Amino acid sequence: MPTLLAIETSCDETAAAVLQGFGDVLAHEIFSQAEIHSEFGGVVPEVASRNHLVSAPTIINLVLEKAGVQIGDLDAVAATTGPGLAAALLVGAATAKGLCIGAGKPFLAINHIEGHLLSPFFGYEKIPSHTAMVVSGGHTLLLDVEGFGSYRLLGRTLDDAAGEAFDKVAKLLGLGYPGGIEIDRLSRSGNPARFDFPRGMIDSGDLDFSFSGLKTAVRIFLEKHGAPTAADLPDICASFQAAVTDVLLSKLFKAARQNNRRRLSLSGGVSANSSLRSRAIHRAADEGLEIHFPPPGLLTDNALMIAFAAAHHLAAGHLDPIETEITPNFNPDALLRSA
Ligand code: KG4
Ligand code: ZN
Repeated sequence: MPTLLAIETSCDETAAAVLQGFGDVLAHEIFSQAEIHSEFGGVVPEVASRNHLVSAPTIINLVLEKAGVQIGDLDAVAATTGPGLAAALLVGAATAKGLCIGAGKPFLAINHIEGHLLSPFFGYEKIPSHTAMVVSGGHTLLLDVEGFGSYRLLGRTLDDAAGEAFDKVAKLLGLGYPGGIEIDRLSRSGNPARFDFPRGMIDSGDLDFSFSGLKTAVRIFLEKHGAPTAADLPDICASFQAAVTDVLLSKLFKAARQNNRRRLSLSGGVSANSSLRSRAIHRAADEGLEIHFPPPGLLTDNALMIAFAAAHHLAAGHLDPIETEITPNFNPDALLRSA
């Protein structure tokens, strides 16, 4: 079974993992910079890149040591090459390439979205056909998946990503960064039906999304009513969260129906949302559908999902030239071609 080292530095997590085969986790570590960036109210690319430069060698040594593996034992080294912040991606990609050159190992350039997309099937040697929703801080995508490497884009956000909406609304509410988890926590004691926020594009007839109108609606609401009282805050959070969740679930289940899929997946940081998860699980059970989420620890950015995608590429005989560029912007064609 091949042993892979994967490095993930697309945003503000420096992560590394050593994976054997498709699911034997030898080591996996994440150094989050969230605290550093929270001071700025969001991720500052140059700060992220400088911190990756400091953390990458340490975390790589740590996972190799924990895995009991030497660089010479590896079959390949993989890195996320996009989409993400250019300055951040460069650190992980350059580090991986340096290891490949130094140790004479093959290089694998992995698409971050493909990492999230496959993560609900971590450990699987064969990716089953399904309808997939990737909901992260940077992306909101619906895809039809026939199997590994066979992806069809069904819909995407036309403006903000779902996680971005969570983070921006959290900022408006003074909850700090990243705000998704805080909104989730406060919503548990809130009334989701108290405020009627817009469900953008819920009846658009297609599978695209728009969350900027919802964010604006919350901003206008706060301008009108002033800073929320401690008593109102959970209701505002829960009402906002219900609006996002209604749209995501409506389109996910519609996409599955349209494509005759009996199996669904949800991945990316927002798939950690407790309300989204429980509503998705209930609805899937009601409709007799199978639903998959990433295992704990693989919801937000991590290197294990990159290693898993890399393991599939390696098994399919794919390797990437050492000259491979980074691709900071999301390009659906690159994802669809990536396998
Ligand atoms: O997948 P991820 O780690 O990074 C990207 O690739 O963008 O996702 C991060 C996003 C952030 O926007 C964060 O606020 C959101 O996931 N998030 C959540 C929750 N946990 C993380 N959003 C809602 N509820 C949560 N529990
Ligand atoms: Zn991500």
